[in-house]
Amino acid sequence: MFFDGTEEKIGTGAQAEVLLYHCYAYKIYNPSYPVQWIKYETDVQESVYKAGLSPVRYYETDDPHIVKMDYVEGEVIENRANAGDITSFDILADAFRTVHCKTGSDVPVPTLFQFAEHTLTGSDKDLALDITSRLSEKYGDCLCHLDMHFLNILVKPGSDDYTIIDWMNARIAPALFDYARTYVIFDEYSQEGLAVYKERVLPQMWDSGVTEEEFMDAVKVCKILRKREKSDEG
Ligand SMILES: Nc1ncnc2c1ncn2[C@@H]1O[C@H](COP(=O)(O)OP(=O)(O)O)[C@@H](O)[C@H]1O
Ligand SMILES: [Mg+2]
Repeated sequence: MFFDGTEEKIGTGAQAEVLLYHCYAYKIYNPSYPVQWIKYETDVQESVYKAGLSPVRYYETDDPHIVKMDYVEGEVIENRANAGDITSFDILADAFRTVHCKTGSDVPVPTLFQFAEHTLTGSDKDLALDITSRLSEKYGDCLCHLDMHFLNILVKPGSDDYTIIDWMNARIAPALFDYARTYVIFDEYSQEGLAVYKERVLPQMWDSGVTEEEFMDAVKVCKILRKREKSDEG
């Protein structure tokens, strides 16, 4: 893969940086990032595209650590949130509703239960599996993004049209786990954001009948998985 010097850095994530180059976005993964995970992310993205959840397709390049993507014009909703624009939380709420309409037949990813079973060990695993199966039975499963935060939603300038990106963590699970994961992320990065999230986004989840105790159980599972994820990142 050759860049001619006109590329421009447009984003940085935990495992990759993203460049804009000749009207396409290029995700350049850290060299230590496993190639089979990139292949997995590419396959998930194709299902997400086919399910009508994203206009972005991923394309292989001659470098296994670089993926070419359709470029989404716009900015992360974090910029709007930082500028005090509260509607970024309404976009977040809408993004959850849109994703949760889909199922495992639309986007065939593993269930959260299978993922926890595969990734965790010991008492963490027992607790996570117990909570996940109990809540699945009660609320049923749908597609969950499980990394829905302000850097993974892009908006077009001057409009509320948005695109959800970064579907690597998507799993099939009860919807409340998606809300719980975002709760954990806000709790880590912004108490101010968490307070607005509770007030402006979580009510649509309470409306589905979820109790506070059940939600805090889902938060426990998301914290366990987050701890595991961080230890993998080193
Ligand atoms: N297709 C795209 N078009 C425009 N910007 C993008 C695109 N994909 C990613 N970005 C930008 O790059 C950042 C990191 O990309 P992301 O896929 O979320 O990486 P990571 O998996 O490391 O979090 C995003 O927050 C966004 O700013
Ligand atoms: Mg991201």
